[in-house]
Amino acid sequence: MVTVRAPATSANLGSGFDVFGVALDRPADVVHVERADRTTIEVTGVGSQYIPTNPDQNVVGAVAEALDAPAHIRIDKGVRPSSGLGSSAASSAGAALALNELYDRGLSREELVPVAAEGEAVVSGEAHADNVAPALLGGFTVATDEGVTTVDADIPLVACLPEIAVSTRDARRVVPETATMEELVHTVGRAATLSVGMCRRDPKLVGAGMDERIVTPARAKLITGYDEVRTAAFDAGADGVTVSGAGPAVLAVCGTHARTRVAAAMVEAFDEAGVAARAYKTRVGSGAEVFGI
Ligand code: HSE
Repeated sequence: MVTVRAPATSANLGSGFDVFGVALDRPADVVHVERADRTTIEVTGVGSQYIPTNPDQNVVGAVAEALDAPAHIRIDKGVRPSSGLGSSAASSAGAALALNELYDRGLSREELVPVAAEGEAVVSGEAHADNVAPALLGGFTVATDEGVTTVDADIPLVACLPEIAVSTRDARRVVPETATMEELVHTVGRAATLSVGMCRRDPKLVGAGMDERIVTPARAKLITGYDEVRTAAFDAGADGVTVSGAGPAVLAVCGTHARTRVAAAMVEAFDEAGVAARAYKTRVGSGAEVFGI
């Protein structure tokens, strides 16, 4: 048996829609795999009742098929599905790393990124890699059609998860089909600022770089209380706030000293909007880890 801990991730970071991602040091999924003649799946943990165990409908079934590695796969979910925290990517990345090890396939983590992205296609219809790349490689990742670039950033974050479910498919339907040149210039400026901020490990630059005006405002409408939560986070000392992935989690970047205050302010603002929420005080972390063979 092989056991892997695969972290939650936050994609987009505002200005890097479908490109940027970060691994979070918590929460995480734990994936156990054992050789078998055909793939079977068992899911426990948070939100497991909403996850199909049929291998044709589960992200890890697609991964096992792509690696030609049938197994009994047990997933202990720590990352809630439909959260915007890379729940499906954590399972896909965990399964890809574990099955690669179990069957001694010899693929590098970079080579496992497109394999794990096959799992993403099962849930969102598209094999985008902006969650699976950080889940496998850790740090801040830039996933493009040329491959993935990583920076080992260390930035404090708060991920605030309301009790609302937003499916990635629905959140992709609201993405505008066009943008103006002015909006594109603004986005490029912010994306470049964010990248420099990650390299310099500077939360203020990362926060400034999260501002984005094309996709985020459209998606914010799917999250009850988003504007109030954003304002509350800034008032409590956040340097930047955006929708985490496809939502509904809201991601804030701040200095370490402000994290507790920002987390409490975000939960309280959701509560005032009538939505229960919990906040993870986290930071940019490492990729999936094999911890039991
Ligand atoms: N980049 C993707 C999106 C991440 O925002 O739709 C969610 O899986």
